[in-house]
Amino acid sequence: YTQRHVGHFRSPSETHSSMAEEAKKLAGYAAVDNHVKDNHVVGVGSGSTIVFAVDRLAERVRQEKLNIVCVPTSFQARQLILKHGLVLSDLDRHPELDVAIDGADEVDAALTLIKGGGGCLTQEKIVAGCAKHFIVIADFRKASSTLGQQWKKGVPIEVIPMSYVPVSRTIAKLFGGEAVLRMAVNKAGPVVTDNSNFILDWKFENPQNWAVVNTTIKMIPGVVETGLFVGMAERVYFGMEDGTVSVR
Ligand code: 5RP
Repeated sequence: YTQRHVGHFRSPSETHSSMAEEAKKLAGYAAVDNHVKDNHVVGVGSGSTIVFAVDRLAERVRQEKLNIVCVPTSFQARQLILKHGLVLSDLDRHPELDVAIDGADEVDAALTLIKGGGGCLTQEKIVAGCAKHFIVIADFRKASSTLGQQWKKGVPIEVIPMSYVPVSRTIAKLFGGEAVLRMAVNKAGPVVTDNSNFILDWKFENPQNWAVVNTTIKMIPGVVETGLFVGMAERVYFGMEDGTVSVR
């Protein structure tokens, strides 16, 4: 318990979520400490876990006077880089990255990932694909042996807006399940990505051959990208409930 929790009774779910926050921090710090070196070009992922990694990155840049250039994977990542006074770049100037660090919604035993819970999957995949090393950070709730055990919202798929109905029908015909248009929290309209597209969340029914599913879905006209990251992650750092870091 840190100081700010003193005198505050926490329910089991609050305790669980504060443990998860601590776990995210452990993972983020471990990845930055183990994989970022002076003169590196670093891909900065999106989500809540990456916030801790960027905190640590900024701290190391200050303390060790590192020369680091950052390439963002989203508007959120861009803002995070700027907020910390880090050097912001892009793929035009830095098409080859030393390392990319990003979160995930679920990680299976083969290091296949579901990503895109925050809708940033396309730029995340582009940046990860440009990196020599793609390192994933997550809390203990993201680890599974088979995709679908932990992340119940399905595989996010970014689509061109006019195509969402036919793409959704084609995916259901090919693989079963249901691909649902992601709506804004206030239900006023669909979520719109940084690329001005929509997101379908495909709730699949059974474990699949994810490499085949990924390439097949990508071939459907209107699909921009899938949140399946197959054979991309080199290492995954999980912050654990007991305060340790587990590496997969
Ligand atoms: C956003 C992502 C995120 O990296 C993923 O959703 C994990 O987020 P968090 O660190 O908040 O759990 O893919 O599109």
